[in-house]
Amino acid sequence: MKLLSLALLAAANSVVAQNSTFLDGLMSTLEHAGCTSLTQLASSLNSTSQGQYLLKTISNGDPYVLFAPNDTAVSNAPSNLTSNPADLLSYHVVHGNFSGQSTTYPNTTVGRTFLNDTTYVSLEGNKSQVVAWATRSDGNVHVLNQRSDSSSMVTNVTSYGNVTIYVVSSVLEWPDNFSGALSADTPYLDGLGATISNVTQSFYNGTDGSTSNETVARIIDGGFKGFTLFAPNTSAIEALGGGITQYEQNATLLQIILANHIINGTSVYSPELVGQDYTSAAGEQFSFSINSTGQYVKMGSVTARIIQPDVLLSNGVAHIIDQVLLNTEEDTSAASSAAASATSMAAQSTTETRPIGYSQTASLASGGASGSSASGSSSSSSAALAVGGLSASQIVGLGFTAVALIVGAFVVIA
Ligand SMILES: *[C@@H]1O[C@H](CO)[C@@H](O)[C@H](O)[C@H]1NC(C)=O
Ligand SMILES: *[C@@H]1O[C@H](CO)[C@@H](O)[C@H](O)[C@H]1NC(C)=O
Ligand SMILES: *[C@@H]1O[C@H](CO)[C@@H](O)[C@H](O)[C@H]1NC(C)=O
Ligand SMILES: *[C@@H]1O[C@H](CO)[C@@H](O)[C@H](O)[C@H]1NC(C)=O
Ligand SMILES: *[C@@H]1O[C@H](CO)[C@@H](O)[C@H](O)[C@H]1NC(C)=O
Ligand SMILES: *[C@@H]1O[C@H](CO)[C@@H](O)[C@H](O)[C@H]1NC(C)=O
Ligand SMILES: *[C@@H]1O[C@H](CO)[C@@H](O)[C@H](O)[C@H]1NC(C)=O
Ligand SMILES: *[C@@H]1O[C@H](CO)[C@@H](O)[C@H](O)[C@H]1NC(C)=O
Ligand SMILES: *[C@@H]1O[C@H](CO)[C@@H](O)[C@H](O)[C@H]1NC(C)=O
Ligand SMILES: *[C@@H]1O[C@H](CO)[C@@H](O)[C@H](O)[C@H]1NC(C)=O
Ligand SMILES: *[C@@H]1O[C@H](CO)[C@@H](O)[C@H](O)[C@H]1NC(C)=O
Ligand SMILES: *[C@@H]1O[C@H](CO)[C@@H](O)[C@H](O)[C@H]1NC(C)=O
Repeated sequence: MKLLSLALLAAANSVVAQNSTFLDGLMSTLEHAGCTSLTQLASSLNSTSQGQYLLKTISNGDPYVLFAPNDTAVSNAPSNLTSNPADLLSYHVVHGNFSGQSTTYPNTTVGRTFLNDTTYVSLEGNKSQVVAWATRSDGNVHVLNQRSDSSSMVTNVTSYGNVTIYVVSSVLEWPDNFSGALSADTPYLDGLGATISNVTQSFYNGTDGSTSNETVARIIDGGFKGFTLFAPNTSAIEALGGGITQYEQNATLLQIILANHIINGTSVYSPELVGQDYTSAAGEQFSFSINSTGQYVKMGSVTARIIQPDVLLSNGVAHIIDQVLLNTEEDTSAASSAAASATSMAAQSTTETRPIGYSQTASLASGGASGSSASGSSSSSSAALAVGGLSASQIVGLGFTAVALIVGAFVVIA
């Protein structure tokens, strides 16, 4: 009896911890900013524990950014988004004060939202999904990775308490998986997207220990939990022309080349690349640079420009590059140790309360911990890209032959 009432009290407390004065003021501010429909969606939050958590959190006095779609935006939104207010609102709130932050595309600002519903998000360490935004050449701030970039624009900025309200002209959709992102948002990769959907390879599923033949698209979509892919665009692949024939004939080399495009186990957003060291899934070093002409990734003897940063994915992030990182070197022990490091870093789940990659001393900077992250090590002769050190349920093996096929597919496109 006593335990029961304590439990009820605890439950009540977690609800009572909402500051209703604050929430009333916030809702009234939103109404004045043309976001009445949003407040109607918010009014249903109290019916779920996820929603209650959000109401309690945003009213606790900390700084937050709230992306607030106006009434037109809500009425235009797909009904499968607006019918899910708790996930929807979770993806519109970012913890932290971003007022000193201003980036001009292709530099981006990245913030961590509260959306961690496993139906839609599968990042390392069960992290919540991020949102990215930047000032575009029209002088307006746009939220990136949306169905229509031009329509996801910040049209007004206001605030209530420590909550900064960015009024936006569309409801924000959270990232899809790789296949979805390619078809929706990435003209550069149409060829690659089509090809990886056509290529089948052996896939080891660590969750149930089964091995099956799956398309590469499905493996990338469902097999990784946190990864960074430097994805060559179609012209980069075409530019290789016949030069790749020698690699095509050697599966080992092709496997290594592919692994040298991936940081396995960590989603690294473009502001975090600067000043950090990351190890590829083949154990080679990536190095990064940025200047007024753009952001670059160097691997072996190739330096590629990132032509579209931060293509957010439900289970990671891709950066589109203009050249294939044609490095055939590998270092399996470096790959293993990087994988172990990525795993332990993912386990230290820290709450992010400022822009990802941002520091007070530089507009784009190293975040603190030096991140040697990444990568898969070969834990068996047939697993080219296994995630070393992760729990069985997270282990994904890409078959040796399969990897060859992925790179082989580059040639198909060419
Ligand atoms: C609740 O919010 C109001 C309005 O922002 C503020 O004045 C008050 O101090 C807050 N109360 C608590 C307990 O934080
Ligand atoms: C911007 O928001 C403020 C505060 O809600 C409001 O007074 C103003 O009219 C808005 N401006 C535009 C252009 O919507
Ligand atoms: C949510 O429910 C609790 C408990 O019934 C109540 O105190 C609180 O004011 C409600 N919050 C909102 C925003 O309606
Ligand atoms: C806003 O944050 C400041 C600094 O943390 C704090 O002193 C103040 O009480 C907060 N304001 C509100 C309305 O919670
Ligand atoms: C919402 O924003 C768009 C883009 O600025 C604008 O055309 C539209 O009139 C706004 N709707 C409302 C209800 O304010
Ligand atoms: C909503 O429906 C669209 C179109 O069918 C689909 O592409 C999208 O993934 C759906 N979104 C969610 C969150 O289910
Ligand atoms: C999502 O975040 C909430 C609040 O921090 C937490 O209670 C919940 O366990 C998280 N869900 C997952 C799947 O990690
Ligand atoms: C993928 O397969 C379809 C259907 O067989 C075919 O039309 C298309 O050309 C293939 N795409 C590539 C890039 O091979
Ligand atoms: C995968 O495909 C190959 C070639 O068609 C076949 O030999 C093999 O048995 C298949 N493996 C599985 C697990 O279905
Ligand atoms: C791995 O197996 C589990 C359990 O059978 C299944 O739910 C999941 O979809 C599989 N993953 C992939 C990528 O096929
Ligand atoms: C393929 O490349 C690897 C790594 O350079 C090399 O060890 C191997 O001998 C090559 N295999 C063939 C058949 O050429
Ligand atoms: C992006 O940031 C870098 C480093 O701070 C800077 O050199 C470059 O000019 C910025 N690019 C734009 C378009 O602002």
